[in-house]
Amino acid sequence: MDKFRIRGGKPLHGRVKIGGAKNSALPLMAAGLLTAEPVTLRNTPQVRDIVTMGRLLAFMSAKVTTPAFPSTTYTIEAPSFNDAVAPYELVKTMRASILTLGPAIARAGVAHVSLPGGCAIGARPVDLHLAALVKMGAQITTEHGYIEARVPDGGRLKGAHIVFEKITVTGTENILMAATLADGVTTLENCAREPEVTDLIHLLRKMGADIEGDETSTLKVRGVRELHGTTYSIIPDRIEAGTFLVAGAITNGDLTVANCAPAHLGAIIAKLHAAGVEVETLDASTMRVHDGHKLAAADVTTEEYPGFATDMQAQYMALATQAEGTSVITETIFENRFLHASEMMRMGAHISIDGRRAVVRGPTQLTGTTVQASDLRASAGLVLAALIASGETIIDRVYHIDRGYERIVEKLQALGAEIERIHGKE
Ligand code: EPZ
Repeated sequence: MDKFRIRGGKPLHGRVKIGGAKNSALPLMAAGLLTAEPVTLRNTPQVRDIVTMGRLLAFMSAKVTTPAFPSTTYTIEAPSFNDAVAPYELVKTMRASILTLGPAIARAGVAHVSLPGGCAIGARPVDLHLAALVKMGAQITTEHGYIEARVPDGGRLKGAHIVFEKITVTGTENILMAATLADGVTTLENCAREPEVTDLIHLLRKMGADIEGDETSTLKVRGVRELHGTTYSIIPDRIEAGTFLVAGAITNGDLTVANCAPAHLGAIIAKLHAAGVEVETLDASTMRVHDGHKLAAADVTTEEYPGFATDMQAQYMALATQAEGTSVITETIFENRFLHASEMMRMGAHISIDGRRAVVRGPTQLTGTTVQASDLRASAGLVLAALIASGETIIDRVYHIDRGYERIVEKLQALGAEIERIHGKE
């Protein structure tokens, strides 16, 4: 397994280009199953999860092509699509595999997808996805670790009125995709409003879907007989952009973050301002961060979009260790998303955890040691902590970060960070 070796203390300077949004690319690739015609996606990030999704779609009988590897363009083509299986071997490595369930049952009337199981950050059930499909007429059985979803008599799903009990991002995306090919109108209430959901709506509309309600919590979908192919460019990754904004602030550097979407970063920018960081929007796709020399404590509560993203919580915690005063960080989305805190404490951070609240007292000079990455964003938080720690930090299990951060070592090196990848034997 690969590791990162980081020597902290270097302010980051220069310009970094943000890649496409992983959490958009995954549902958009799955949407390729909804049509017999090719769907070409541009600005796809070069990260491990995209490769996994490509393998999964290929396993499910789609043709997945990319002009070179690695590349930012992928074409998904599923001319004939029958009783497809998303196997445990792939689903266990990436929970977003569940995003194939909605398109597969909508297109073929039957789908078999392995149950994802829990993960490091929480139980993460998929009951809301399944309950919505049942309301649309699917019969669901879960046996031997697999979900079997079937429309009786091989017909189509039926439009329904669905109110999500809880806001779920991939649940909204799955049912939205399923509804595009259903008979009749589906109304979805209490939907996620994340920019990645809106990106999916934009792609589906280009494919011929009839959807109303962009950026609101109520979506209305009139099912159509079939969808067609198209070419579409994925939005920039707001979490990668946010991570680099924190990297600029925490190292007291001066960074230009290019190819990003400042409009999607409102809560993060507001929190950085509250923490005393200068963040400027230079134009519709460029931001600059500087003057992080006097960081002040500010409390953060994670929320669904447009609130502060849970996917930025670990990175913010690294910043809070450098801020003057006490920051209370409340995690409301996942029940176990503070695993990075104990690793940061090993680096000298003053953090106490009480259920879903972490209290961080700063500023503290962190010191380098060996730490373990436990999930994607926790790894990003540890990289940020290592960038300001004295001495050397070794971050183990960085396969987590490779799942969602494009060429992070190269991007940080180009900004002046002392970071290298140590290749493992496996
Ligand atoms: C998406 O996960 C993202 N993944 C996550 O990003 C992100 O952290 C999360 O949304 C929250 O923003 C992708 O987009 C591929 P949820 P998702 O369903 O859809 C509960 C990253 O690091 N819930 O919105 O799986 C659930 O347990 C990843 O890039 C149910 O109870 O999250 C959680 O507490 C990690 N039943 C809450 O809802 C369900 O059926 C929100 O989860 C579904 C969800």
